[in-house]
Amino acid sequence: MKFLSQALRFAGFLAAAIPISLATSSAAHAQAAAEFRPHPVDPKDWPKQAVHAPHGMVATDEQLGSQAGVEILKRGGNAVDAAVAVAFTLAVVEPAAGNIGGGGFMLVRLADGRSSFFDYREVAPGKATRNMYIGPDGKLIPNDNVTSSVIGYRSIAVPGTVAGLELALKTYGTLKLADVMEPAIRLADTGFPVSEKLAHEFAEEKTSLDKFPFSLHIFLNDGKMFRPGDTLRQPELAATLKRIAKNGAAEFYTGDTARAIVDDITKAGGLITLDDLANYKPKVREVLRAQYSANDRDGRAHAWEVLTSPPPSSGGVAIIEAMNMLQTTPLKGWDDVESVHMVAETMRRVFADRAAYLADPDYSDVPIAGLTSPCYAKERAATIDPQHATPSKDVKAGTPHTCAASAAADSAPTTVSLNDGPHTTHFSVVDAAGNAAASTYTLNDSYGSHVTSPAGFLLNDEMDDFTTQPGVPNALFGLIQSDANAIAPGHRPLSSMTPTMLLRDGKLSFVTGSPGGPTIISATLLSVLNWMRLGMDAQSAINAPRFHHQWMPDLILMEQNFPESMEKALQARGFTTKRRGHIGLVNAIGVDPKTGDRQGAADPRDNGSALGY
Ligand code: GLY
Repeated sequence: MKFLSQALRFAGFLAAAIPISLATSSAAHAQAAAEFRPHPVDPKDWPKQAVHAPHGMVATDEQLGSQAGVEILKRGGNAVDAAVAVAFTLAVVEPAAGNIGGGGFMLVRLADGRSSFFDYREVAPGKATRNMYIGPDGKLIPNDNVTSSVIGYRSIAVPGTVAGLELALKTYGTLKLADVMEPAIRLADTGFPVSEKLAHEFAEEKTSLDKFPFSLHIFLNDGKMFRPGDTLRQPELAATLKRIAKNGAAEFYTGDTARAIVDDITKAGGLITLDDLANYKPKVREVLRAQYSANDRDGRAHAWEVLTSPPPSSGGVAIIEAMNMLQTTPLKGWDDVESVHMVAETMRRVFADRAAYLADPDYSDVPIAGLTSPCYAKERAATIDPQHATPSKDVKAGTPHTCAASAAADSAPTTVSLNDGPHTTHFSVVDAAGNAAASTYTLNDSYGSHVTSPAGFLLNDEMDDFTTQPGVPNALFGLIQSDANAIAPGHRPLSSMTPTMLLRDGKLSFVTGSPGGPTIISATLLSVLNWMRLGMDAQSAINAPRFHHQWMPDLILMEQNFPESMEKALQARGFTTKRRGHIGLVNAIGVDPKTGDRQGAADPRDNGSALGY
């Protein structure tokens, strides 16, 4: 297994004007829109421009995923129809991350203003226990042991994806499940060419995949291994997808598929039962929102609104807390050490709060209002030394509180309301009417538990997102998490997945999100700051170098494309730095406020693909 395939100015309070220079459309861009553009990985060759299109846009990790989304849009489907089609397609063509054996979130915002957050996060099985990953020596069972929280049958949480996708489609879609599943079924049935990336991944994961018979059979070609250009057909998955298309999500949770999943898990000593599957319920939650007033480069005020992910995601709370803390910071860009310093110090504090307070909101009283309140952010920001790094051991979680009514009216430039590798994948969709869907879904680790069900799909290892041992970092991401996130039957493990949107003057402006465990939060936050605060166009907002600080360990991770001078400048301020190949894979869509042009920006750090029409 690999560890993280290794990221306006507010009226009266921001010193520097933040230019909002959204790219304009051009005939050349529109022409390019219909073509898929594979992105080379060498930063020198990264695309400088987003893909532009006048109607709809889909940005995903994989060409075939984006094509499936556009196919559905062109057939008259809306953004949610297309998003569900993409999700099922990625389950076929991106097995490491795309999944029906895991869980995720989808943020939907319709052009008429309605919005919902679909939570199809996995839950702990009924037989799960608080200390199930602690060995007789009192220590966490090591990662390479097939009874650990990261590999094998005991690491699997009850999957939520199929139920969640069906719920999103029933709530906002316009097409039938069978219609939107067509591209996925076709690709599973007839197969698709194995890319160099996929062949490389299978080889890299071989020693873990070949422990499990169906993983060996399907992804390692019964030990013969796939070469680039070979055709990967997945008849077991095709049959399962056809049954789901015919019978709906009930097939997965109470039908033949449920029985196939549970028979195999039971024989191998896993915990999930037929009751666990039958009892699984996706949830519709209120979108977490924060409003900001900001001036454009021309001095005109614009109203910005952030729509983001509520718990059990920790990401939306973190992003709003961070944006509130950064209100008074004149961000200049990521070649400016003061800007990097302030954002890293903000992240440090936000992650300390995450460790203390965030958990499944159905079982824990998460202080969302306090953590996202402007006066708490002001207090928290005041602890930052703008010249020197604060050691993480000296940073404790704060005491979140909401602003008194009068104080809020006097001093709060934002208002926040609640009315609304690690391999995960994020995709964004905007349709011709301006409806949008942003979805991040996951198996947790790359290839999840590495167990493939006889029904043809990989199963997650999401149990490691629980606090497997209080005070001890979790296995995959090194995150310290609270007791409120302890393992308990039916609980959802805390997530960092953060599908997010920005509205500008009430209209859709930016749709974003990322994979990457805790670095999801940083990658998504940076994309939002790049678009809203630094006025970057969509592709620049995705290409810009990324960094990440999660409080513990006390390290700032920096992508390779930062110059050495920045690393040295941060070290001189007391930061411990560490280079990371890439942080996050953001697939985003911007909307030009004047022309409505959709700007698809897929992440060039991998095989991201933006495709529009
Ligand atoms: N499994 C990664 C996350 O949900 O944050």
